[in-house]
Amino acid sequence: MTIDILTLFPGMFTGFVSESIIKRAIDGGKVKINVHDIRSYSKDPHKKVDDYGFGGGAGMVLMPQPIFDAVADLKKEDSLVILMTPQGEVYNQKKAFALTEYKHIIIICGHYEGFDERIRTLADMELSIGDFILTGGEIASMAICDSVIRLLDGVITKESYMNESFNDNLLDYPVYTHPADYKGLKVPEVLLSGHHKNIETWRLEQRIKRTKERRPDLFKE
Ligand SMILES: C[S@@+](CC[C@H](N)C(=O)[O-])C[C@H]1O[C@@H](n2cnc3c(N)ncnc32)[C@H](O)[C@@H]1O
Repeated sequence: MTIDILTLFPGMFTGFVSESIIKRAIDGGKVKINVHDIRSYSKDPHKKVDDYGFGGGAGMVLMPQPIFDAVADLKKEDSLVILMTPQGEVYNQKKAFALTEYKHIIIICGHYEGFDERIRTLADMELSIGDFILTGGEIASMAICDSVIRLLDGVITKESYMNESFNDNLLDYPVYTHPADYKGLKVPEVLLSGHHKNIETWRLEQRIKRTKERRPDLFKE
């Protein structure tokens, strides 16, 4: 998979691509991430990328030209163009799985007040990561890239993500590590028993119980 990210702040991605599982996925050739500075596509002599909004109002608005040109430059026949916006469909694990099917994704990050409305015409999909406002689409795009990349073949084991929260509309089961007794807080006996069938049953019961308690909305689904 190749991901092209359009942003005004490429430096924000430095840590993201150089640490942990994402770095391993890049080094292992599972994903290629190209971060593009929207400013480099500006045709303005001063590399201007934003301006005041028509009709007034607070904040600067991203102009169409640099983003239209960037998408025209990067887009191929099989590309999916995603626009980060709090007004988009709310992202979830199902959508993360669906995005793994694409070979090429272009992500447009807005900033400041947002982007000129005409930029919407470039997008195949508009995504929000939740009902809150970030200063820009960068952190939102990293959240999406992270959640998709870890699902790509060979990045982490299938077993690691198949029992995770949200698969089957259930939350994950509780996990424990050493010591078995920490300040009187004990690991459930069943996990120390070595009885795999009982452990499996206990874990499923815990997933159901947790989901009912914490996310009755998910459980209903
Ligand atoms: C300050 S926000 C603009 C918000 C816009 N004025 C509104 O109220 O809908 C600037 C940019 O951050 C990104 N952004 C902010 N919150 C987001 C969210 N919850 N999900 C995805 N992107 C978000 C978008 O790219 C947005 O254009």
